[in-house]
Amino acid sequence: MPHITVKPFDTSLVKKEKYGETEVLFRAKDSFSKDELLGVLHKDESFLLHTKKNENSWLLKYDKVTRPLKVNLVKQAITDLADGLELDILGSNVAIHPAREVKSSEYEKKIEDFVDIEFPFKSVSIEVGFGSGKHLLYQAEKYPDRLFIGIEIHTPSATQVLKQIELKGLKNIWVINYDARLLLEMIPSNSCHQIFVHFPVPWDKKPQRRVISTSFLEESMRVLKKGGRLELRTDSYKYFWYSLDTFLGESVAKTSVEVRKNEALEITSKYEARWLKQQKDIYDVYVTCLEESKERLINFDFSFKGVVYKKEILDKISYKPQLFDGFFIHFERLFHISNDAILIKLAFGSFDRPEHKYIYLDQEKAYYFHSNPVKTVTNYKTHLKIMEYLNA
Ligand SMILES: C[S@@+](CC[C@H](N)C(=O)[O-])C[C@H]1O[C@@H](n2cnc3c(N)ncnc32)[C@H](O)[C@@H]1O
Repeated sequence: MPHITVKPFDTSLVKKEKYGETEVLFRAKDSFSKDELLGVLHKDESFLLHTKKNENSWLLKYDKVTRPLKVNLVKQAITDLADGLELDILGSNVAIHPAREVKSSEYEKKIEDFVDIEFPFKSVSIEVGFGSGKHLLYQAEKYPDRLFIGIEIHTPSATQVLKQIELKGLKNIWVINYDARLLLEMIPSNSCHQIFVHFPVPWDKKPQRRVISTSFLEESMRVLKKGGRLELRTDSYKYFWYSLDTFLGESVAKTSVEVRKNEALEITSKYEARWLKQQKDIYDVYVTCLEESKERLINFDFSFKGVVYKKEILDKISYKPQLFDGFFIHFERLFHISNDAILIKLAFGSFDRPEHKYIYLDQEKAYYFHSNPVKTVTNYKTHLKIMEYLNA
């Protein structure tokens, strides 16, 4: 990931102004370390750059939570700042001159696009965690009249597949670089034919990170048309049983569940090829949706209505995770921007689909930097609780 190492410099010289094409919005100092964050706006995308201060050299790098999909945006922003501030560069993996033009792809969709989404194809399939994209690309080539929505949390994989889409000239794939467990909640009810989950990470030690869960099953059945199918494929015997148990649980009253062992598919993914070489068994579980679902309204308002920075907030914030009925709030870090402005890093929402965000607060306004949470009931309930907290 793009970064440069530079000689320590006087960060107070960084002003709220434009450096090349990058505008600095604010500078925020970590209250637990010497590190700093820079809020920047580059080509209509806002994100944070992290200055990690070691003794003799500092690292200027991307911030994981706000990282844009196009890595070149981060590279260009770092380049603009390094040039504008005349930083002494000690090391870099950023091609500083000349900055490459960022090409945007019409096939890359953002979570916000799903607020009022209309699909340009009658038939829609979703693939969760497509990795190298072999299966997704194969399916899209084979069925050009169907839209394939690929949701992948790993940014480099999403970027690679976007490149492949351009190279192959495919017109029927959308790529979303997001947590599929959250994105699924933005998809209209009864709108899809298939949801593929192939070789999900089993997360045996951190089960809360698993894709398959009761709420994922509920959401999948809501999103699928009557007769549509959720298709899990796994090499993990444990995950297979865990999933089967989840699928047969009480949360969805009526489904049809089918199990297959060592079924050959037309296309073998990178992971599958590895397991086949090791002669591992592979399990498929198909869950067919048998009922129509109600439409879901997603008109939640995530504005902070009257919440502004007050000194009392600093005393009130607890950095221990706080658990509520069905959701949690964990204020993780506090950054000072000025005497009357702060940035809070937090994780919140449902236990198996947490959100990671920043909240910017000054004396006039408060907002989620750089984008609102996904419009789910749980996130909205959590947002109301966060507002209660910040209304110190
Ligand atoms: C073991 S790989 C399998 C990749 C691909 N399906 C295959 O069969 O080769 C699991 C993939 O799921 C992605 N992933 C894990 N959790 C995810 C989530 N919550 N939302 C979207 N993608 C996720 C990972 O980044 C990874 O690319």
